[in-house]
Amino acid sequence: MTAANIRKKFVAFFSDRQHQVVPSASLIPGNDPSVLLTTAGMQQFKPYLLGQADPLSAFGNRRLTSVQRCFRTSDIDSVGDATHLTFFEMLGNFSIGDYSKQGAIDLAWECLTKTFKLPKHKLWATVFSGDQAAGKDIQAIKLWQRHLPDQRISDFGRSDNWWGPPGTTGPCGPSSEIHYQRRDEACERGQHCRPNCACGRFVEIWNLVFMEYFQDEAGRCTELPTKNVDTGMGLERLAMVLQKVPTVFETDLFAPILDAAAAAGASPAEESDIERARRLRIVADHLKGAVFLLVDGVRFSNKDQGYVLRRVFRRALDQLPYPLAAYPPIVAAVVAVYAETYPFVQQQRQAINQEMQREAEGFVHLIETTMQRVTSGRHRDAVDQPMKRRLTADQVFQLRATHGISLERLRREGFEFDLAAVQKKIQEHRAISRAGAVAKFGGHGLGGYALDASKLSPEQAAQVTRLHTATHLLHQALRTVLGAHVRQQGSDINSERLRFDFSHPTMLSSEQIRQVEDLVNQQIQRDLRVSWKEVPLSEALESGALSFFRERYPDRVRVYSVGDFSKEICGGPHVEHTLEIGQFSITSEKSSAAGTRRIKAVVVA
Ligand code: ALA
Repeated sequence: MTAANIRKKFVAFFSDRQHQVVPSASLIPGNDPSVLLTTAGMQQFKPYLLGQADPLSAFGNRRLTSVQRCFRTSDIDSVGDATHLTFFEMLGNFSIGDYSKQGAIDLAWECLTKTFKLPKHKLWATVFSGDQAAGKDIQAIKLWQRHLPDQRISDFGRSDNWWGPPGTTGPCGPSSEIHYQRRDEACERGQHCRPNCACGRFVEIWNLVFMEYFQDEAGRCTELPTKNVDTGMGLERLAMVLQKVPTVFETDLFAPILDAAAAAGASPAEESDIERARRLRIVADHLKGAVFLLVDGVRFSNKDQGYVLRRVFRRALDQLPYPLAAYPPIVAAVVAVYAETYPFVQQQRQAINQEMQREAEGFVHLIETTMQRVTSGRHRDAVDQPMKRRLTADQVFQLRATHGISLERLRREGFEFDLAAVQKKIQEHRAISRAGAVAKFGGHGLGGYALDASKLSPEQAAQVTRLHTATHLLHQALRTVLGAHVRQQGSDINSERLRFDFSHPTMLSSEQIRQVEDLVNQQIQRDLRVSWKEVPLSEALESGALSFFRERYPDRVRVYSVGDFSKEICGGPHVEHTLEIGQFSITSEKSSAAGTRRIKAVVVA
């Protein structure tokens, strides 16, 4: 079923059931300083949900439905996996003081199983397990039991089954999510494999929020005047399920854009297929997001929505080897995909192109002048010689540190430099600023290691940090080479070596060991940036971040990303860029327990 048909059928289903169809609001929320962008369908209905305005006088109805354009910066680092996007469309139905839990659950069930004909045995539901704000949602469990067997109904805490408020204050409440099971076989967790499992077998398609509370600035919840329902189903995810494709990027909402990106973007020579797929997905998502921000009136700037636009657009450009020539056909593909559904995208094509062109030229100019400034000093005496595009280690270091220009980009732009010398420079710099970093080691212990920093010299601490980031790279590399069944079982790091235990049934061949080593070293050479953000646990798991013992995590966790290669729940500390790690080699591989292998490895500056 095409995305256009999904939109039509969804809206018709709810309009046949007495819902007023309300057009999507802009991505720039009107009159709501608590959020930067529209992140959910409920955004435009906030005054009605809060009891500040009457839905009957505005819409003549307490039942509403919409297909809302949404933009979530919170997911930006997850873009590239199977299901996360910055821009997406949310299919929603809303009850403002009309039907409640039963209506929401029964309507969603009927819509999915009758209108969209999803097989019942592939649907699972989650409900709120209860905390001090509200009790376990027994009522929702009972309502689901009319449709689903007990084992396909599970409860989760606040981080998974409580929604809102978007921004600092607003309506919120317990939620019930509907997940679609994509594969029949369970993962190694057996019967414990359920929605939100990191194995990726499930995709969350619909979130039903029983929006009954208001949360104030202090985080206090009070009951709202009416019991409301706010639901949201991701159009791209439903399309992925209905079109039976493995990721949202293969649906008709993305495939032509990905094709255009693949045709336009030459590949860096050393790029693997996985890296290329990820890069093209990021380009497709970000350029689409930029188009929709522009059509809703956002303009490039250094603040607020303008900064979000600048960030996604430049991030897309940075992924393209020849950005100025490469992005326009991809943008044309975005416009074509939406031309029929959203004629205003087509109508604003010229304005979009003009704004983007100015921004792209500005960005490329910035990179070029910065690099020229660096190179011209060296060639002042040889004006009539063609300028050699060779940079000293100092220059590369400066470009990277001051202007944030990645080594990958420099290489793509055709600059040459001595990588080992740059690496040394970066490490020298790190050693100097290391003394202060030791303080960062204080007791986190999450997902990684805790060690007594006071017993380590700054150099030893620096080595442990390098090994720690190398451990994350190793974990992901093992999963890429051996398969997604690989999970961390234990980790121990000292200033000499790392030791990593992981689930895998058989001894690794020497070829596999070499592949893992190579993959880790490739990532180190890419000089990937290491970044972290603090997010609710559910979001971390949903984004595919690797976790260790899931049950032990608190509600909010840090997710460390190593470029686009690895993402793991962890307390740090880590190096800032992977080149600081040095050369990685595996020194031993053996069994540590049944079904568990142990690798020891070292890094050499
Ligand atoms: N507002 C809810 C969400 O965004 C439906 O998931």
